[in-house]
Amino acid sequence: MPRILKSLIATACVALVLSASALATRIMVVSNIHYMDRALYQGSELFIRALRAGDGKYAQFGDELMAALCDQVRALRPDALIVTGDLTFNGERDSHAALAGWFARIEAQGTPVWVIPGNHDINVTSARGFAGDGWYAVPPVAPEEFCAIYADHMLPPEGGAGLSYAVDVNSSLRVAMTDVAYYEGGAQTFGLFTAGHAAWLEEALSGAGGTELITATHHSLLPHTRFSQESFLMFGHEAMEALALKHGVRLNLSGHMHAQHIARQGALADAALGAFCSWPHRYALVTLDRGALTYQAKSLDPVFLPEGFLEDSRAWFEGIAREKTEAALEGVDEDDQALMAGFAARFNLAYFAGTYDRDDPAWRDDPAYRLWRARADEPFGQYLNLVMDEPTGDNLCCAFNPD
Ligand SMILES: [Fe+2]
Repeated sequence: MPRILKSLIATACVALVLSASALATRIMVVSNIHYMDRALYQGSELFIRALRAGDGKYAQFGDELMAALCDQVRALRPDALIVTGDLTFNGERDSHAALAGWFARIEAQGTPVWVIPGNHDINVTSARGFAGDGWYAVPPVAPEEFCAIYADHMLPPEGGAGLSYAVDVNSSLRVAMTDVAYYEGGAQTFGLFTAGHAAWLEEALSGAGGTELITATHHSLLPHTRFSQESFLMFGHEAMEALALKHGVRLNLSGHMHAQHIARQGALADAALGAFCSWPHRYALVTLDRGALTYQAKSLDPVFLPEGFLEDSRAWFEGIAREKTEAALEGVDEDDQALMAGFAARFNLAYFAGTYDRDDPAWRDDPAYRLWRARADEPFGQYLNLVMDEPTGDNLCCAFNPD
């Protein structure tokens, strides 16, 4: 959608909100689409094998997922769709271009789409396509190309803070789209909030009057888990957190973890959204209604997906965890191995969906639980025991009452 048209729509929205201030604002959020242009993998067994050895991405069905997202947005008619990074599988230029086509389709339905990059989007030197049993290098995108491809889904970056920009969804809500991905000289996994980001964010969050302020990042703003904290939590998070608190930000939208998880610290929550590319294909709805702010994680409605899609996607995700666990348990008694692998696969599903409850006795009463406890010193057992023991709360919903 051309920016001028978007601006006219935004102005019309502001007028509507002014004339009917009781109307709620709703934004939809997705993260980690990891979209791959079908032409880059069609018919390749190697691509399927690479996915099978991965973390559960159902990226061979990116078009089916994007078509469902279009339908979901049309059904919900939110005021905006926010995408918090890792737009593409691994930074392929063709994937970015094709995904921008899907976003144009969503905008044609009347919902503006706003994006920031993640760690798999810009200057990814390992971007590749797949053919048959082999692969080939494909062009990645530089920051300028990223801006050109998504010109209708970003505002011009203001400098000093990567590709960050602030968007007024309407007169009630501003979202500071904060690009903390690090891609100078090649994409890195970590996120970094610099002094330049701080100067930009201070300005972006100032002078907003009675407007609700939300921030959006790819990497986590708050600590979520003791496992692999260093790669999820952005460096410099303390400075961003201080600014968020100073300006009354109550919610940050992130996604890098791929697992659905909400971290809370005082008046601030960081909602890490489950990866859209993996079962159960999460999106979130954020509602602002007379000062009350609510975040609710949901899953794509199966009516928008091919029959059996969700069941197959769940089996794919579960099967990957099961196979990895079996490999890690080589040499263990066959019966114990089957019990433990089944347990780990079920746990993984629940953990990534954001529905794992440490206090649910069903986990501890499972015969495999005791077996895993006995292997707490081994690499996979260590991970499982660490994550199983973490405090759990409501990882799907958080709500803030009016100030
Ligand atoms: Fe990702």
